[in-house]
Amino acid sequence: MLTVHIIDHPLVQHKMAIIRDVSTGPKEFRELVDEVALLMAYEVTRDMALEDVEIETPMGKAQCRMISGKKIGVIPILRAGLGMVNGILQLIPAAKVGHIGLYRDPESLQPVEYYCKLPTDIGERDLIVLDPMLATGGSAVAAIRFIKEKGGKNIKLMVLIAAPEGIAAVQAAHPDVEIFTAAVDERLNEFGYIVPGLGDAGDRLFGTK
Ligand code: PRP
Ligand code: URA
Repeated sequence: MLTVHIIDHPLVQHKMAIIRDVSTGPKEFRELVDEVALLMAYEVTRDMALEDVEIETPMGKAQCRMISGKKIGVIPILRAGLGMVNGILQLIPAAKVGHIGLYRDPESLQPVEYYCKLPTDIGERDLIVLDPMLATGGSAVAAIRFIKEKGGKNIKLMVLIAAPEGIAAVQAAHPDVEIFTAAVDERLNEFGYIVPGLGDAGDRLFGTK
């Protein structure tokens, strides 16, 4: 089973504190989610392969290294995952973006799919699935299953806050998928919300509540 990476960089932790704060409005919330996604992407992509290249500087030749091999695909789970896309694209502008639309049925807490559009060369890309919240894990487990059914192989999951239940669900269903999170919270409440969490990520991003 692969590790869960907790990104404990001070900048990430500082920004997460403000993101969680109930008094943070949608504009600041969006900006901070963007920034945390960018900072986390730095860690998520740490194992990208490099190749040796020779570069001509104004002073002579330098032996350098540049990223080689596989390309990246980022796949936000709609809707809240959208808030993490721009941060990653600032670091990796050539990444292709797929979308999976899922919402969690409020009664059953089961994920319901309503949209799926993925890059055609998905099998040749390193894929990063984005969602701020990993609660029961139902949405992430289903999204990763769709991606695998369409040919995706190298998949990482990047979330802002994970509940222990969600981590266990992803690890049980997809033991090959590494999870990156800025926090592992205490538990879920009776409505499947992460406690203390940050509330409803989609509503806070888009101001719908
Ligand atoms: C939220 C969140 C995750 C899901 C997590 O989405 O963004 O996708 O819940 O819960 P789970 O781990 O129990 O599946 P939601 O269903 O509220 O949809 P939204 O992003 O459209 O608001
Ligand atoms: N979805 C959210 O947006 N927040 C939670 O705490 C759980 C699921």
